[in-house]
Amino acid sequence: MHAYLLPIVIVTGFIFAQDKAASEAHGRFTYSDFEAPTACRPCHVDLYHQWEQAMMSQAYTHHWDEIEYFRLAVPHADKEPKVAEVKDGCNGCHAPTAFLAGDTPPPHPSKGSRANESVSCDVCHTIKTVAGETPFNFNFVSTPGKVKYGAKGRNVSPYHTVVQNDFTGTPELCGSCHNEQSPYGVWVKSTYLEWAEGPYPKQGVTCMTCHMPKAYGINAIMAKEKSMVAQHLFHGAHDDGKLRSVVELRLNPDTRELEPSETVTLSMQLFNAKTGHKFPSGSAEERVLWVHVEAVDEDGNVYHIPVDPKGFKGEEYTIASEALAYQDLGIPLGIPDFPGIRREMIPVGDRIFRLPYLNPDGKMTIMQWYTASFGPDYRIGPRETKIETYTWQIPDDIAEGRVEIRAEMYYRKLPVPVAEFLDVPEEESRAVLINDAHTWIEIFY
Ligand code: HEC
Ligand code: HEC
Ligand code: HEC
Ligand code: HEC
Ligand code: HEC
Repeated sequence: MHAYLLPIVIVTGFIFAQDKAASEAHGRFTYSDFEAPTACRPCHVDLYHQWEQAMMSQAYTHHWDEIEYFRLAVPHADKEPKVAEVKDGCNGCHAPTAFLAGDTPPPHPSKGSRANESVSCDVCHTIKTVAGETPFNFNFVSTPGKVKYGAKGRNVSPYHTVVQNDFTGTPELCGSCHNEQSPYGVWVKSTYLEWAEGPYPKQGVTCMTCHMPKAYGINAIMAKEKSMVAQHLFHGAHDDGKLRSVVELRLNPDTRELEPSETVTLSMQLFNAKTGHKFPSGSAEERVLWVHVEAVDEDGNVYHIPVDPKGFKGEEYTIASEALAYQDLGIPLGIPDFPGIRREMIPVGDRIFRLPYLNPDGKMTIMQWYTASFGPDYRIGPRETKIETYTWQIPDDIAEGRVEIRAEMYYRKLPVPVAEFLDVPEEESRAVLINDAHTWIEIFY
């Protein structure tokens, strides 16, 4: 028993030491140590305009980030000593130059300060390595100045000195922000770890393969040589095209010909063809991915078919219901005995693929920094196939003839009740169709 526990203790101590290295970087530099992205624009024209269009350039200014930081995280940090560190810490990834300059909390985005540069060119291209072995909680080592690190290291510009750095081309660079531990020591963001445990690293498929695809061209207007250039699009969950067809759905019945009141069992296969990590990943506390199944008879009557429960522990979080959740929003908002709001607003009985985040009271939370444990991880891993079944007793009054059965998979970045409660623009909780599937049965009287 004790021998079994020992390595866990060592790992925790080790991780704590790394975390310390990251927090010690707070205030070590000034804003003027970092160049603004506009300084790179005249020469790196295309890369600049790609980055400008990506979430990376809005990590501090984006409406929902602003709301969550200023309305929830900062007041919560002031009230609860255990989470006090997030007042600075959120900025380690969302406004790294403000964090490194010790300007935290940074001025509100409307003030137009340099914190608004978010994850800028100079942030990534002056990262030398990470402190420790596991990248997480902004443990990147920043060395701002005229030296820019690149994976290729073509040193032909009079503007800066480019130094080739293998680290720049590795997923560990990404992992320093795309892996996060809460003050309670749980992995509230684990995109890097999910990738590392999946099938892709062995095949040399990295974050860059899918999020910075390479195309033949030039990377600066005065570059003399064409080559394969890493595109700076960073398209992810905010890009409908990236989301489309992430999962392939297929549906088949166990029998085609039925009479009213007989029972059919539909089997659904869900194959994650596109992501290099789990789906959903990243801010999983707020992602809702679900499948809705309906049958339509010859007269146009529509019947909703709920999923068959599988019976695993905590499964209730993965089947849509009218349950209330997020009672802890009352803490930062100062609402005593807050009863909570609807956990999600989707048809009751639909299967949800998610990871429920639980606060120290064991209640589901949207405040990832207040997460002490998890419910069941029911997301779809990279190249994983899940099977769901739907048992349906044919209604007695169904029309004779063909019944079309369709399944649709939808995705929301933020649950509708949370978006409405906190006045987050509708765009953030819009349902995106991921994929669909069709099959049929025949009814005889
Ligand atoms: C270790 C780095 C890191 C820390 C610390 C961090 N974040 Fe993030 N945050 C990210 C990354 C990376 C994403 C984007 C991942 C994704 O797409 O979900 C993100 C996404 C978000 C989003 C957007 C979710 C969406 O729907 O797109 C919000 C809001 C947010 N963070 C708020 C916060 C707040 C508030 C804190 C502090 C309590 C914080 N973050 C701390 C790295 C971090
Ligand atoms: C005056 C023009 C100019 C400006 C301004 C400029 N660069 Fe460059 N940069 C270049 C040229 C030219 C190259 C070499 C391109 C080539 O030959 O492939 C280059 C190469 C790079 C590389 C090398 C990539 C590699 O691995 O080979 C990085 C990284 C880079 N620049 C980052 C930046 C950043 C960050 C900024 C803004 C802070 C910036 N540059 C501003 C002209 C410029
Ligand atoms: C300095 C921290 C930092 C580093 C390093 C970093 N990211 Fe991010 N990234 C963020 C933050 C913060 C966001 C969230 C922006 C938001 O939604 O507010 C983000 C957003 C993204 C998104 C968009 C997610 C969405 O929801 O649309 C993708 C994709 C992404 N990053 C990929 C990468 C890749 C690939 C790398 C490595 C080459 C990387 N990131 C390195 C901080 C970082
Ligand atoms: C989130 C981190 C990140 C940000 C932000 C970022 N870069 Fe990069 N950049 C990288 C990585 C990683 C590579 C190398 C990718 C590879 O080779 O797979 C790279 C490559 C480059 C290259 C060489 C491209 C090539 O393949 O020839 C240039 C030039 C460059 N970046 C400039 C910029 C400029 C200018 C900006 C801002 C507009 C910027 N970068 C923003 C991470 C970043
Ligand atoms: C095989 C391709 C592939 C690889 C490899 C890959 N991704 Fe993704 N990633 C995707 C696709 C497709 C999506 C859009 C679906 C989604 O949101 O998960 C995505 C989404 C994301 C998001 C948004 C997740 C969310 O819920 O907000 C982030 C952040 C991200 N990737 C970062 C990374 C990082 C960091 C790595 C490397 C550790 C990586 N990705 C590796 C394909 C890939």
